[in-house]
Amino acid sequence: MRTTVIAALCLLGVGCGGGQKTSAKSDESAVVGPPQVAWKDMTKKQKQTYMKKVVIPTMQPLFAAYDKDEFSTITCLTCHGDGATDSTFEMPNPEIMPLPATPEGFQALMAEKPKAVEFMAKQVKPAMAKLLGEPEFDPAHPEAGGFGCMECHTTAK
Ligand code: HEC
Ligand code: HEC
Repeated sequence: MRTTVIAALCLLGVGCGGGQKTSAKSDESAVVGPPQVAWKDMTKKQKQTYMKKVVIPTMQPLFAAYDKDEFSTITCLTCHGDGATDSTFEMPNPEIMPLPATPEGFQALMAEKPKAVEFMAKQVKPAMAKLLGEPEFDPAHPEAGGFGCMECHTTAK
C-alpha cells in the first residue's frame, strides 16, 4: 500500500526527489545535472557549473585520445566558439565545420574525414547525449528526435 502511494506520487512528479531539487535550486554553486535534474530545468548558472565540472572532465580524455596535439586541453571555446568568453555564444556553433545537409554530402564527408566522423559519431555524440540525459539522434529514425551532430554543428549552405 505504502509503496503504491509513493510510486503514484513519483508519477505525479511530487514527493520523490523533490527535496533534492529544492536544495539544488537554492545552492547555485552545487553541481547538479541529469539524471537528478533535467537539463531543460536547469538554470544558466547550473548549466555553466555542470559544463565545467562534469562535461569538460568527461570529454577531455576522449578528445585527447583522438588527437593529443590538437586537443590536449579543451575549453568552453572548443564547443561553443569565441562567444564562450562572454557567454554570448549560440548553439549550434558556426565556428566549427558546418556539416552537409544531404545523405550524399555525409557520404562524401565520411570518405574525406573517416577518422573524425567515426570519433564524432561513436564517442562525442553518445557521450554528450548521455551528459545531457537525452536520447541519441538516429538518422534512421529522424522523427524520434534526440541529440545529434546538428546540436553542435551548423548545416552547410
Ligand atoms: C564537448 C562540448 C562542450 C564543451 C567543452 C562545453 N560545452 Fe557547453 N554545451 C554543449 C552543448 C552540446 C550544449 C547544448 C545543449 C543543448 O542542446 O541544449 C551546451 C550548452 C551550454 C549552455 C546552455 C546554453 C543555452 O543556451 O541554454 C551553457 C551555459 C554552456 N554550455 C556553458 C559551457 C561552459 C561555461 C563551458 C566551459 C566550462 C562549456 N559549456 C563547455 C557542449 C559543450
Ligand atoms: C558536442 C558537440 C559535437 C557534436 C555532437 C558533434 N561534433 Fe563534430 N566537432 C565538434 C568539435 C568541438 C570539433 C572540433 C572543432 C575543432 O576543429 O576545433 C568537431 C569536429 C568535427 C569534424 C572535423 C572537422 C575538421 O575541421 O576537420 C567533423 C568531420 C565532425 N566534427 C563531424 C561530426 C559529425 C558527423 C557528428 C555527428 C555524428 C558530430 N561531428 C557531432 C563538436 C561536436
